[in-house]
Amino acid sequence: MNHRSLAFRLGAWYTLLLSATFVLVGTGTFYGLQHFLRSNLRDSLSRRSIQVEQILMQAPLDATNGSIAREIDTRLAPEFNNRFIRVTREPATLIYRSGRPANRSFDPSAVRAIAVMNATAASAPVTEVLGDQHLMIRTTLIDTITGKYLLELGTSIESLQATLDRLLDLLALLLPVLIVCAAGGGYWLVSWALRPVDRLSQTAEQMSLQNLALRLPVVPSGDALERLSISLNTMLGRLRDSVQTSRRFLADASHELRTPLTVIKGELQELIHESSLTKSELRERVGSVLEEVGRLEHLVSGLLVLSRLDAGETQRDWADVDLAELALSTAEQMRLMAEDRGIAIDLSALRKTVIRGDQARLKQIIVNLLDNAIRFTPPGGTVALRTAADDTGGVLEISDTGIGIPSSSIPHVFDRFFRVDEGRSREDGGAGLGLAIVKSICSAHGAEIEVQSSPDCGSCFRVGFPRRSIAPAAVEAPAA
Ligand SMILES: Nc1ncnc2c1ncn2[C@@H]1O[C@H](COP(=O)(O)OP(=O)(O)OP(=O)(O)O)[C@@H](O)[C@H]1O
Ligand SMILES: [Mg+2]
Repeated sequence: MNHRSLAFRLGAWYTLLLSATFVLVGTGTFYGLQHFLRSNLRDSLSRRSIQVEQILMQAPLDATNGSIAREIDTRLAPEFNNRFIRVTREPATLIYRSGRPANRSFDPSAVRAIAVMNATAASAPVTEVLGDQHLMIRTTLIDTITGKYLLELGTSIESLQATLDRLLDLLALLLPVLIVCAAGGGYWLVSWALRPVDRLSQTAEQMSLQNLALRLPVVPSGDALERLSISLNTMLGRLRDSVQTSRRFLADASHELRTPLTVIKGELQELIHESSLTKSELRERVGSVLEEVGRLEHLVSGLLVLSRLDAGETQRDWADVDLAELALSTAEQMRLMAEDRGIAIDLSALRKTVIRGDQARLKQIIVNLLDNAIRFTPPGGTVALRTAADDTGGVLEISDTGIGIPSSSIPHVFDRFFRVDEGRSREDGGAGLGLAIVKSICSAHGAEIEVQSSPDCGSCFRVGFPRRSIAPAAVEAPAA
């Protein structure tokens, strides 16, 4: 048996408490019964004593000692009732003393006198137990016309003692049995109560990354144990989701990396075997390989950014950043790309919006959203940037008049490697990581991103920064 186990310790405490209760109840029963039996005897003694008092009080002046003794003997029959009666007239004349009782429990001649407080005047009766004689004696002083009497009236307490002895024997026999039963029962009860916890731990031991679908048995106890099993199962669900997401991400990343690598390998193998290439042909082939390498680089740097964001790196260097200024400078850097595609950039709605954040990451949000807006907008379209700060927080909005996103794809645009039109996006160099990165940066800044889009009308990406991230600089004049 494990002495440090919860079952043992709880069982031991339970046994201790129950044993103390048994002992208390046993002691209480013993003394209660003793008190009850003795007070019964005392009552009966007082009734008999009153009878003798009446005989003494009613005795005529010329009554002899013998006639009083006979009267007592006839009316009370003390030997037959196992009683002791001794009447003494003051100062020391023995008038009557009962004989040996029928049950031989005491010797009347050996019963010693009990001192009464005031032997000269009538006083309250005194009741005492003479253990050596097995007697309860009531001593009364009676003042009558024929003289002062000391009446000693006793009764045998043998049957009372026998009853109490029997009770003691019973308690001595029962208590150890009850304590042993309490100890065994307590240990079994606690072990039984802890069995669900055992089952929980056994199931938990069977779990590994391979069988994360396994769930702990829910204990329907309606208490902390049930809540614990439910929360552990919820936690396991989240753990499984996150492991599955990581696995999917790894599989997708490998798949995405394999495509450009296969293309590069094919191109290079062809180059080895074709010896009669002209210089311009060679440049063209190498150019195509370089294009794939560029794609690979784009993909790998996207993966790197995501893994750094997952590791929570962005928390480090936060500062006050004006979103309007940042949007302005970023748009200026990307203006050439937009002009190449015949797209106008509208910066008229930029208002000073200072928030706390990581400037480099916030810039990445603008770059990725602007890059998408320019790439997915046909020539002649417009891309507009808006920043604003109000009581509810800061807002960054990038909208375009482009091809839009079908409503069925909108819930997935922030997923890693998701592209609405796989082929076309990959052609364009897109890895499907841009919006996933934006989403991660937003989460790290406590911001929410939402998209409104309809095919052929354009899209609008809106990033809402919470109020607490707004630096104490309010809405001001346009920065551009
Ligand atoms: N402004 C937009 N207009 C229309 N479709 C868009 C827009 N922004 C994103 N999308 C769609 O959402 C998909 C996911 O965008 P995301 O930026 O994550 O990937 P990507 O641009 O294809 O690749 P990457 O950004 O990694 O270069 C895009 O492939 C595109 O189909
Ligand atoms: Mg993109």
